[in-house]
Amino acid sequence: MTAILETEDTTGATPLEQAAPTSHRGILDFVAEVAALTQPDEIHWCTGSDQEWTELTDFLVSVGTFTRLNPERMPNSFHAASDPIDVARVEDRTYICSVAERDAGPTNNWMAPAEMKARMRGLYDGCMRGRTMYVIPFVMGHLDAERPMFGIEVTDSAYVTASMRVMSRMGTDVLRRMEELEADFVQAVHSVGHPLEPGEADVAWPCNEVKYISQFPEERAIWSFGSGYGGNALLGKKCYALRIASAMARDEGWLAEHMLILKLTSPAGSVKYVAAAFPSACGKTNLAMLEPTIPGWKVETLGDDIAWMRRGEDGRLWAVNPENGFFGVAPGTNWHTNPNAMRTIAKGSSVFTNVALTDDGDVWWEGLENPPAHATSWKGEDWSPDSEELSSHANSRYCTPIRQCDILAPEFDDPRGVPIDAILFGGRRRTTVPLVFESRDWNHGTFLGATLSSETTAAATGAVGVVRRDPMAMLPFIGYNAGDYFGHWVDMGKHADAAKMPRIFYVNWFRRARLEDGGDGGFLWPGFGENSRVLKWVVERIEGEAAAVETPIGHVPTPESLDTDGLEMTAAELEAALAVDADEWRAELPQIEEWFARFGDDLPSVLRDELEGLRARLGA
Ligand code: GDP
Ligand code: PGA
Ligand code: MN
Ligand code: MN
Repeated sequence: MTAILETEDTTGATPLEQAAPTSHRGILDFVAEVAALTQPDEIHWCTGSDQEWTELTDFLVSVGTFTRLNPERMPNSFHAASDPIDVARVEDRTYICSVAERDAGPTNNWMAPAEMKARMRGLYDGCMRGRTMYVIPFVMGHLDAERPMFGIEVTDSAYVTASMRVMSRMGTDVLRRMEELEADFVQAVHSVGHPLEPGEADVAWPCNEVKYISQFPEERAIWSFGSGYGGNALLGKKCYALRIASAMARDEGWLAEHMLILKLTSPAGSVKYVAAAFPSACGKTNLAMLEPTIPGWKVETLGDDIAWMRRGEDGRLWAVNPENGFFGVAPGTNWHTNPNAMRTIAKGSSVFTNVALTDDGDVWWEGLENPPAHATSWKGEDWSPDSEELSSHANSRYCTPIRQCDILAPEFDDPRGVPIDAILFGGRRRTTVPLVFESRDWNHGTFLGATLSSETTAAATGAVGVVRRDPMAMLPFIGYNAGDYFGHWVDMGKHADAAKMPRIFYVNWFRRARLEDGGDGGFLWPGFGENSRVLKWVVERIEGEAAAVETPIGHVPTPESLDTDGLEMTAAELEAALAVDADEWRAELPQIEEWFARFGDDLPSVLRDELEGLRARLGA
């Protein structure tokens, strides 16, 4: 680590410049400006080496943020418990600071860039005192992409630095390439907002009650303050790869989406690539790593959260995953639901946040096999299976390198990505939405995405279980006016050869058996590995083989067209899972109407036409 010296050398280089491992002018100026404002004690330029990981994790153990797990169970892995006020994304503190308010649209919080900067400069003033400032050169996507997408995150959190090493490609190689290309980069500033006075002891999870997650889309800059939680603090992820990248994608004609990417191989060896957008905590990571229950089918993973999609020279939509790790929801993950995730984390080099710590130095969470007789809960309290409180926060997470995933598709290393055959939209709905249906065409698929609805989850602070519209599962992540975003989706489908665009489907793993029909209120569909049956139907639709019923909402499988061999489900249950109840759908119409009204004239007329088409088909 380098102290910031007081003196200049004879060449006129500042102490920061003398100590910096780069001559990239833009990076030096950015780091100097942030350091002058935030006043860290030291500056550490990240290399991304194994030794650096060891130093960071040793440091985090020494200050009590990390507990080292038992190396025989979980090598090179760590447990962390956050402050209870810092457990999820904070949507009400997240701002799109475009120059014009109109460009943030009706779905984002907005503040004028100058006003936000003045406010945050006040918060940043001296906020890194007593701490080390880490400078993280990173790239989202491939370092050897045609245009690598660089960023520099400056943070006062060693936890964030260690997590960024798992989640992104970062370090010296990236810095060298930025120098060679004299590359532009996204400026990403992060502070936990907890300066230390001389002699003041640190807390295990420093953060601040005041939080701001601010994006400046025109400047391609991110300023984050007050939180250490992944989605608020690992700035390559949601802030860059979704909010800033979606604004870049609008300007440049591509898509930055909240989607998993998977590769599906049929028993006959035919390969399809599927992208799927579900809101946070609605099944992306599980579907991405699915272990099919139907014989002969194979799933390989490319990504579990974010897809960048560009039209290729062949007219198809090609997707890459810009990330390098999984930041997965822990509760519910087990050897039955997601064995591939279990195998990935069992290899170690992982960080677990807000799960329970067992007495033998392992981690446990609700839904995992073999509950321990005693453990320490995420709140640091004694926990046993009879405890009333949960051992783990509902949004507790594992953070693990994607390369440890046994079923990582080899195409992950191809900077061109993979050509997408099908896009699935989906949400968490107890009622109304059938297990799967296919859109009529691209515009109808865009309508399905634009009206996607889901019950809120613990991935964001606020009420859980409330149905809201979450367009393309991007509500918290669209970095510009959502009306323009819908228009951009419509434009992406205007194509000389529309048949080359992915087919669009809608899925719902979360429909419940209705009590009034004598059901038990439980999930109608077993989900997880059984979702391979739905993927098979999707492939067979693309290949023109699977039958469907044309309903007012789109093409729904006939019960026979879905492979239910070996599935323990009665005909009545299957029918209930696939049912399209016209009354339920008619009840959606005023909600969609109200949702669309928010966009006024910014709503593409194509989507209004789709709504009128649906209304007519429902006879409403
Ligand atoms: P992500 O945040 O979108 O990546 O969602 P995850 O894949 O992490 O899943 C979030 C939660 O939903 C976890 O508790 C999962 O166990 C649960 N889940 C995922 N897939 C299914 C499914 O097919 N059926 C049911 N019932 N639950 C699921
Ligand atoms: P998730 O990612 O989509 O896997 O939940 C984190 C988030 O969206 O906050
Ligand atoms: Mn996500
Ligand atoms: Mn996930």
